[in-house]
Amino acid sequence: MEQNMASLIMIFGATGDLAKRKLFPSLYRLFERQRLSEQFAVIGVGRRTLSNEEFQQSVQESVTSAMGEKSDLDKFISHFYYQSHDVSDSSSYAALKKFADEIDEHYQLQGNRIFYLAMAPEFFGPIALHLKSDGLTDVKGYKRLVIEKPFGHNLESAMELNQQIRTAFSEEEIYRIDHYLGKEMVRNIEVIRFANAIFEPLWNNRYISNIQVTSSEVLGVEERGRYYESSGALRDMLQNHMLQMVALLAMEPPISLTTDEIRSEKVRVFRSLRTIEQKKVKDYFVRGQYGEGTIEGKQVPEYRDEPMVDKESNTETFVAGKIMIDNFRWAGVPFYIRTGKRMETKSTKIVVQFKDIPMNLYYQPKKMLNPNLLVIHIQPEEGITLHLNAKQTGSGSQLDAQTVKLSFSNSGTNAMNTPEGYEKLLYDCMRGDATNFTHWDEVAYSWAFVDKISKAWENEKADFPNYQAGSMGPEAANKLLEKDGFFWWPITNLDVDNCK
Ligand code: BG6
Repeated sequence: MEQNMASLIMIFGATGDLAKRKLFPSLYRLFERQRLSEQFAVIGVGRRTLSNEEFQQSVQESVTSAMGEKSDLDKFISHFYYQSHDVSDSSSYAALKKFADEIDEHYQLQGNRIFYLAMAPEFFGPIALHLKSDGLTDVKGYKRLVIEKPFGHNLESAMELNQQIRTAFSEEEIYRIDHYLGKEMVRNIEVIRFANAIFEPLWNNRYISNIQVTSSEVLGVEERGRYYESSGALRDMLQNHMLQMVALLAMEPPISLTTDEIRSEKVRVFRSLRTIEQKKVKDYFVRGQYGEGTIEGKQVPEYRDEPMVDKESNTETFVAGKIMIDNFRWAGVPFYIRTGKRMETKSTKIVVQFKDIPMNLYYQPKKMLNPNLLVIHIQPEEGITLHLNAKQTGSGSQLDAQTVKLSFSNSGTNAMNTPEGYEKLLYDCMRGDATNFTHWDEVAYSWAFVDKISKAWENEKADFPNYQAGSMGPEAANKLLEKDGFFWWPITNLDVDNCK
C-alpha cells in the first residue's frame, strides 16, 4: 500500500450537493488531523463559471456549516482551485490538463491524481474516456478514479459502464464507493467475527437460526423523485449497501487482511447467493410503497404525491427479502433483509439470532426462553449488544430466567473521534487501500442477483401503496418471516441505550 499522500484531487461536480455536504468537510477533517500532507491540492470542476475565490468561499461555507468556525480554514481553502468545464468538449479537457499540470508543478504533487466523479451516472463513462483520450491520465505518479453509485442500472448497463472506464483505468485504479463500507460499525463486522473466540466457532448453520439486517429511513424521496423512480429501493439500497453487509456477515475468514484476500472471500459469498427464478420471486421478496401517514407528529404525503413521481408509480420504496447462501457454512440459514423510506425510525441494525438450546430447563407456561441475540448497531447509535439469559435476581429458589443484555456503545468512548464515512474512504483512496470499495466482480454478481427480482416486478403491477408512512413496512414483510417460524425483532426495542 502506498504511503505517498501527495496528490491532486479533481472533483467533478464540485458545486453539487455531495461535494458540499460530504467531500469538503471530510477533506477538512483529514487536514485537521494532519492526514493530508502539505502537498495536496483540489481542483473543483463544474459547469458553472466561478472564480477561485468564489469556490474557496463555498468550500469554507460547507466546512463551517458542517463543523462550525475553524481557525485554520484560510490555510485549508488556499489549496482549492476551480475550473469551469464542459464534460463533452475535448478543448475543455485540454485546458483542464494544462491547469492540472501547473498545479502539480506548484505543489510538487509527483503526478499523483485522484479523479472523483461526484456527478450524475450518465457522465461516468464519457468523462473516463475523455480523461484518457485528452491526456489527463498520462501521469508519472498514480492515477485513481473514484466513482459514486449507481454503477449501472442492471448487469448489462453496469458491464457497459465498466468497459468504458476500464479503457482508461485498470481495476486496481478504480474505487467504487459504497458509503456503507465507510461506516465504523460496518467495518467492525469483520473484527467482531474474526477477533473473538466466542463468535467465530458459532458463526454457522449449526448455531445460528437466522440473521436479520434492517436499514430503515424516516425520510421520503425528498427532491430525488426523478432518480428514484427509475431505481426504487431494490437498486438504491439492496444491490449495494444491503448485499455488502450480508457479504461481510457471511464471508469465510480471509487468510490475511489484504485487499485481494478480503475481496475474494466476499466475492465467494456473492457467488453462493441462491439465484431466485422469476416465478419464485414472490416466495422470497416483498415490495412496498408508502402511502400517506404521520411522522414525528407531521402529516406526510404518499409517495405518488412526491415531486417528479408518477401518479401511478409502480416503484418500490420498501423491500424485504430472504436471501439464502448455498454453501457449507450457511446452508439452511435465512438472511432476512429489509429497507425502506418513510418508516418508523432511522436505524440500521443487524440481529444475529442463535438457535434455541436443545432442552429448556427453565420453561414455564407462557414463559419461553428468549434466544441469544447478537445485535450490531450500525447507526445512528454504534455498538454491540449480546442478549443472554440469566437468573432473575431475587427469584428465590425458583430458577426463573430473564434476558440480560451486555452492551458496548461507541458513544461513551470514541464517538467524538469517529471519522465520518467519507473521510475514511477518501483517506483509504489516498493511501491506495481499495479494501472498502466494491470490486467489479461484486458489482456484477449483485446485479445478476437483483436483475431477476426487478424483472419479475417490472412485469407485474403492484398493489401500491401498501404501507403507511411511519410504519415498519407492509404486512407481507412480516408474513415472509412468519411462514418460516420467525419474526422481525422490533428494532426500536433493541437500541443500545435501552440495553444497559
Ligand atoms: C444512499 C441512497 O445510497 O443511501 C439513499 O441513495 C439513502 O436513498 C442513503 O437515503 C442512506 O444512507 P445512510 O447513510 O443515511 O443510511
